[in-house]
Amino acid sequence: MTTIKPADPSALRAFASRQAAVIETAMRRDLAGALTDNDPLLAEVLNYALFGGGKRIRPLLAVLSARVCGAAGEEIYRLAAAFEYLHVATLVHDDVIDHARDRRGRESVARRYGMAAAILAGDWLHARSMHLIGRFAGSRGLDVFCSSTAGMVDGEFLQLRHVADAGMTEQQYFAVIHRKTGLLIAATCEIGALHAGAGPEQQAALATYGRKLGAAFQVIDDLLDYLGDASSTGKKTGNDFIEGKVTLPLIHTLSAAEPAAKKRLHDLLRGDRTAPGALAVVHRLIEDCHGFESARQTAEQLVAEALDTLALFAETAEPESLSMLGGLALYVLARDR
Ligand code: IPE
Ligand code: IPE
Ligand code: MG
Ligand code: MG
Repeated sequence: MTTIKPADPSALRAFASRQAAVIETAMRRDLAGALTDNDPLLAEVLNYALFGGGKRIRPLLAVLSARVCGAAGEEIYRLAAAFEYLHVATLVHDDVIDHARDRRGRESVARRYGMAAAILAGDWLHARSMHLIGRFAGSRGLDVFCSSTAGMVDGEFLQLRHVADAGMTEQQYFAVIHRKTGLLIAATCEIGALHAGAGPEQQAALATYGRKLGAAFQVIDDLLDYLGDASSTGKKTGNDFIEGKVTLPLIHTLSAAEPAAKKRLHDLLRGDRTAPGALAVVHRLIEDCHGFESARQTAEQLVAEALDTLALFAETAEPESLSMLGGLALYVLARDR
């Protein structure tokens, strides 16, 4: 198989920060055009939700996916904004669902502006993202976009069904993360290809790249929820366990642990998860069973598979964009925020 050469981390960092500035300009312009005679609080909440943090990975993926399929114009940034809008809408709503007080290093929208503002601002972003997708990726793009959004909601329901479920299987976990995170990232890459006029083979390859990358992204997010530093991630550590989310490190641990440790984990999951020391015990049990390492290996495997799908573009794509897509896949494993 032809392999591609992923960009090294410093080249990716420089490229991504230049692109983020262009993406943010496109979002500001779009907001200025869309918000003309609105209530000033709506504009304030949207500005707070959209700016002042965020890695802008999804809009960057849209830009790169379009470029590896031959797109060259500036219109792609207007399309890219839609993916950040939808992503931020889901974050704003997710923080309501997860009772999360912090996001991107500051108060979540719900904590700062209240629940009604959070729900409504998320709805606005949702509507605007669909408007942009319809305009720049047509009805076929809207189909992909809307089915990814519908799947995301389903993933959240599935996640709720498994709250504090010590019997959750790895397969069920992947069904959740594929829906809640993978589908939007896959749709981002696929719609980027669609916008560029790519054929079905290229569209499918980018959808697969996005699906694998999205799953790896969520596995790492779930690792960072235990191991990350809140000053880097911008969100509180340990919230998944408190919310009763059974994520991959815990699933691997539950299947590897001795009966006594397994019973302990069951009791902790079913008991008062906010009790002092509960999280620390879970953390230690996962460490003892190498649950963090094995989850990381799973993410590495997914990233390797994502990289393999890029081989299709090795002969045809604009080299810088292709190497940045490769570099982004590796970044997902190395990230600490
Ligand atoms: C957080 O996504 C939500 C998940 C799908 C895990 P990001 O880690 O990309 O969040 P921002 O946009 O950088 O804040
Ligand atoms: C991501 O899952 C869910 C979304 C689809 C937004 P998380 O609940 O783990 O995301 P964070 O950790 O709050 O960013
Ligand atoms: Mg959350
Ligand atoms: Mg998380």
